[in-house]
Amino acid sequence: MRALVKDIINKEGESIELLGWVAGRRDHGKLIFIDLKDRSGIVQVVFLPKPQELPEKAGVLRSEWVIKLSGKVNRRPENMVNKEIPTGEFEIQAEALEILNESETPPIDVDSDGYEIGEEVRMKYRYLDLRRSRLQNNIRVRSKVNKYIRDFLTRNDFVEIETPMLGKSTPEGARDYLVPSRLEPGKFYALAQSPQQYKQLLMVSGLERYFQIVKCFRDEDTRGDRQPEFTQLDLEMSFPTREEVMNLTEQLVIGIVKEIFPEREISQVPFPRLTYKETMEQYGTDRPDLRKDPGNQNEMAFCWVIDFPVFEKDGKTGKLTYSHNPFTAPKPEYSDDLKNGENLETMISQQYDLALNGFEVAGGGIRIHQPELLKKVFEVLGHSPEKIEEQFSHMLSAFKYGAPPHGGIAWGLDRLITILLGEPNIREVIAFPKTGDGRDLMTDAPSEVTEEQLKELHIKISK
Ligand code: AMO
Repeated sequence: MRALVKDIINKEGESIELLGWVAGRRDHGKLIFIDLKDRSGIVQVVFLPKPQELPEKAGVLRSEWVIKLSGKVNRRPENMVNKEIPTGEFEIQAEALEILNESETPPIDVDSDGYEIGEEVRMKYRYLDLRRSRLQNNIRVRSKVNKYIRDFLTRNDFVEIETPMLGKSTPEGARDYLVPSRLEPGKFYALAQSPQQYKQLLMVSGLERYFQIVKCFRDEDTRGDRQPEFTQLDLEMSFPTREEVMNLTEQLVIGIVKEIFPEREISQVPFPRLTYKETMEQYGTDRPDLRKDPGNQNEMAFCWVIDFPVFEKDGKTGKLTYSHNPFTAPKPEYSDDLKNGENLETMISQQYDLALNGFEVAGGGIRIHQPELLKKVFEVLGHSPEKIEEQFSHMLSAFKYGAPPHGGIAWGLDRLITILLGEPNIREVIAFPKTGDGRDLMTDAPSEVTEEQLKELHIKISK
């Protein structure tokens, strides 16, 4: 039966069977040493000169070959203990070796932390890049965070609900990724930029507490903290106050840090709150870095930014546009102003953003739930009645049927985990990320498609 490397420390003197990869071979005169790694760790294996066929077989092993090895767990002499690894007090004395698969020499070193290797080649061979223990750890930590979130939210009566990826293109923020419809020539779906509208519609449906760990798609220029497809923890509640959403977020994020990143120190609890005006005046940004010592990797300075304006003036056109999304409610004291179209530029919203060490890691708000008010926002934004009908009739109509007051938040999960792990960019915490120019170098996407595919979709490419 297979044993895992991490468990050998409890098996001194026993003969066990290990399955895994060769992480390097050293020939020391008559002795051959290899390191064997599996998902749980790494251990040294020694091949003694006898029986002779064993060192002969071991002599051909190369890095990344896949083997099945039987051997005895021995304690190493005191002066040979390797303090760097958890199994360092032990080694395996080989008794039988079977080669399950060979490997060509890997194009990149997979035993280093990988920072020294060019990103292009890491991305091209991402399946190998992911073998390095740093990335193995990042991916496993992500899984733990997801589990913590799911456990916490289901305990708090939230329902995990999947919403469509293929949706309607609406002017909601970033540029859409469009997907042509085969059955309706000339029409397109848009890949969801976020589940915003669906989650609000689920509140109309009476689900009351929704969450989802979900991919979102935005055709923007990629940066260190941005990917064209990224993951949100998205949630929405019915009948909450702004405080309730913020407190729930705070509890959840503090729980994650304590449980999964115990070495990290949160600077201040409850998280400090700055108004948009204060942060712009004091820090010149709406995602301030409140660390006392930015060189200290363990310092996690969360802070809320609140009281954003509802509308801002577009720099180019001079027209009013929404500062976050058209669904964010103004503070209650401005409801009449919105109805009357007055004081639009000074109107304060119920939007809240969460910043961490100078990055925006979450954003949300209390929403407008009255159809007349929502319609008014679209009018202020300059949409014609026909356009409002065409693009948002589903929301306006849904809100006529007893939409509860509601609000929520979405976390940029890749960003949050990147900062908690102390990684330099979000590609280090995503299994298969895109490059800066939006390419997947491993599969070579995007790529050309056949004439037939285009014809079926009624698409002609003009070059
Ligand atoms: P927003 O657009 O602010 O809000 O997105 C929420 C959080 O998602 C992260 N984020 C990204 N992460 C990686 N790559 C990207 N391209 C990217 N874009 C955004 C950020 C951000 O704070 N529907 C609303 C949420 C709500 O109001 O409930 C929304 O999507 O960390």
